Amino acid sequence: MERILIIGAAGQIGSELTMELRRIYGNANVFATDVKDAPADIKESGPFQLLDVMDDKHLIHFVIRNKITQIYHLAAVLSGNAEKLPTQAWHINMDSLMNILEVAKLVEDVRKVFWPSSIAVFGSTTPRKNTPQLTVMEPSTVYGISKLAGERWCEYYHKRYNIDIRSLRYPGLISYKTEPGGGTTDWAVEIYFEAVRKKNYTCFLGEDVSLPMMFMDDAINATIRLMETDHANLTCHSSYNITGPSLTPRQVAVDIRRHIPGFDITYKPDFRQLIAESWPSSIDDQELRTSIVWKPKYDLEHITDRMIAEIRKTFTI
Ligand code: SER
Repeated sequence: MERILIIGAAGQIGSELTMELRRIYGNANVFATDVKDAPADIKESGPFQLLDVMDDKHLIHFVIRNKITQIYHLAAVLSGNAEKLPTQAWHINMDSLMNILEVAKLVEDVRKVFWPSSIAVFGSTTPRKNTPQLTVMEPSTVYGISKLAGERWCEYYHKRYNIDIRSLRYPGLISYKTEPGGGTTDWAVEIYFEAVRKKNYTCFLGEDVSLPMMFMDDAINATIRLMETDHANLTCHSSYNITGPSLTPRQVAVDIRRHIPGFDITYKPDFRQLIAESWPSSIDDQELRTSIVWKPKYDLEHITDRMIAEIRKTFTI
């Protein structure tokens, strides 16, 4: 029987992944933790506890006491926020991962770890279109440097200690339950919330920057599929490329007008414009699709339909 620990359960990915894992593995077997309070459904449907992944002693006690078999480590400082406090972000992103890798090495019951990487591992010297799985990687952000270093450490622990660590290079994730915080792809979530709330949005990127995106349901589905696949199917032990549609702010704004005809968008690019320009505009994720036999379900139209319908529900309640 699996007993799963989620680190960062109150975040954008964690708040949805926790509920899906509880549905699959049973509420009592999925231990949600975060340094901050979690949404009501997470606290009410199963175990939730405040836990700081930076506190390695507390972490290992928690894992042993609760007989944890799988860990999903989702806590991180995202790209925009990391640029404001570079050394602190490096410390949090790296030391938290090292704590998890050491726990996986020391505690025999822990059989699998999931840790997300990001399109931020790529940089301006990477081919921007259909970025391959294996390519030049010279990230220019602290977040990207920490994710690339993290990928190397994951592969190292796999090779050296035979730890089963699985990872995806998420693109921008679009979701309605919990908004992201401090990322360069946050615009693709904010735009929907502001369209429903105010019928206008000031975008912090220029209108034609194309970035790879993915609807949260597809990301959750791929993540669980990756974790459930037979180890023999895995061809990559650092992190797999994964993507949904590539989108520009202008494309999303035009699509939103199918539902909200008067929606108005203005563009005021800030420091994140340079970050976005250094990232891929589209991703080749063929290797993952072969390893786990998977493809995303959501294109732009489906994403827009779902986002607007779901945000409207919460807005009128
Ligand atoms: N969504 C992340 C960010 O923008 C990228 O992984 O920082």
